[in-house]
Amino acid sequence: MSHSDHLSCTPAVPREAQSVVFRMESEDTARLQRQSQPAVEQDFKVIKCKAAVLWTPGAPMNIEEIEVAPPRAKEVRIKMVATGICGTDIKSLADKELSQFCPIIMGHEGTGIVESVGEGVSTVKTGDKVIILCLPQCGECNACLTSKNNMCKEIRLSGTHLISESRSRITCRGKMVHQYIATGTFSEYTVIKEISVAKIDEAAHLEKACIIGCGFATGFGAAINSAKVTPGSTCAVFGLGGVGLSVIIGCKIAGAARIIAVDINKDKFAKAKTVGATECISPQDFDNPIQEVLFDMTNGGIDFSFEVTGNPEIVATALASCNKDHGVCVIVGAIASKAQLNISSRLFFSGRSLKGSILGGWKTKDEIPKLVSDYTAKKFSLDPLITHTLALDKVNEAVQLMKNGQCIRSVLLP
Ligand SMILES: NC(=O)c1ccc[n+]([C@@H]2O[C@H](COP(=O)([O-])OP(=O)(O)OC[C@H]3O[C@@H](n4cnc5c(N)ncnc54)[C@H](O)[C@@H]3O)[C@@H](O)[C@H]2O)c1
Ligand SMILES: [Zn+2]
Ligand SMILES: [Zn+2]
Repeated sequence: MSHSDHLSCTPAVPREAQSVVFRMESEDTARLQRQSQPAVEQDFKVIKCKAAVLWTPGAPMNIEEIEVAPPRAKEVRIKMVATGICGTDIKSLADKELSQFCPIIMGHEGTGIVESVGEGVSTVKTGDKVIILCLPQCGECNACLTSKNNMCKEIRLSGTHLISESRSRITCRGKMVHQYIATGTFSEYTVIKEISVAKIDEAAHLEKACIIGCGFATGFGAAINSAKVTPGSTCAVFGLGGVGLSVIIGCKIAGAARIIAVDINKDKFAKAKTVGATECISPQDFDNPIQEVLFDMTNGGIDFSFEVTGNPEIVATALASCNKDHGVCVIVGAIASKAQLNISSRLFFSGRSLKGSILGGWKTKDEIPKLVSDYTAKKFSLDPLITHTLALDKVNEAVQLMKNGQCIRSVLLP
């Protein structure tokens, strides 16, 4: 089926999507179109729409008109419905190293509706409700073929912020626009790879389920899959953002008896208790180091601790809080890749272990839609995590709310 067939045969394509189709004229965009021509018949319809574009790290994002070319083979063009802002976006927005990828559309956690698909796409079709997968699942690499991990080799594209070797399908003011972690969800439309998108239930509530794509899946899976929290255990969660609260939800569902929530921002404590924390503490309220406080509180250490702040020094703290014989510490926070961990060898003298966790250990394409179904079936609530819902053009305000510690998750509605 050609691209034009899709556009003409589906009532699911919003009317405004069809009315903004135009023919690109600039040299750059024309070149991109030529490069992107699949072997099969395909028209040149480009969607003109809005996106939040970052031109300089540290500067606010600009709401810009962008051109989104049709999807090529194994690619999908999506009308974004909702996108959350993750702590990882916030860190990257100010990262000077991102300047080489500017202009770039940020955001990597979102839901939408398939507008059209490229040649050879078989797992989604026009009109399907979908969730964006910021960690792809190609189904073919060693990681995808083993049950032991979820680090699909196609994650390599994340570092290029492009959906393909050297190409994006998006332009702005005649320039190619990069897509953060090969997704880029702060946009009315996007084109991403089929392996980075999964069909979800028709009944899914897109405005809320969007945060399952990164924040919820990451935290919940860290407890369930990575730590394998056991019934009756004692857990400690350092950092009570959207990801940390999702860890707490996972610990509670796994049957933990005590869940101690730790944050320097006490405004987060009420939400932590709502989702299942049994105690909340701030390191700033104690003279002793917090690991000693936790050791005393638990008479010998935590069974499962989680670093969810992204600070390298908290990794050592969370590990030291663990029971010295069997405690497990999971690093969930994104620690800068050049950062070194300063951990005393003494902490490993007996049986503690330290491990990482990416996207909660889920096989994303297979399992994240199941999490969405569980959400739709009310097996857990996302309401406590979503504190603000804003239009896309309020993206900079949403970023400020998160930087000021005034929100958990803000959801943008493109
Ligand atoms: N591993 C993954 O796959 C993955 C996926 C998504 C996000 N992340 C990372 O997870 C982390 C959390 O993400 P988020 O969206 O919840 O961010 P967030 O900014 O909403 O939450 C971070 C929380 O940590 C608290 N905090 C900061 N410093 C602290 C300290 N020294 N002690 C105690 N608490 C402290 C903050 O007050 C805040 O409440 C980030 O580092 C993010 O990059 C990792
Ligand atoms: Zn994220
Ligand atoms: Zn793979």
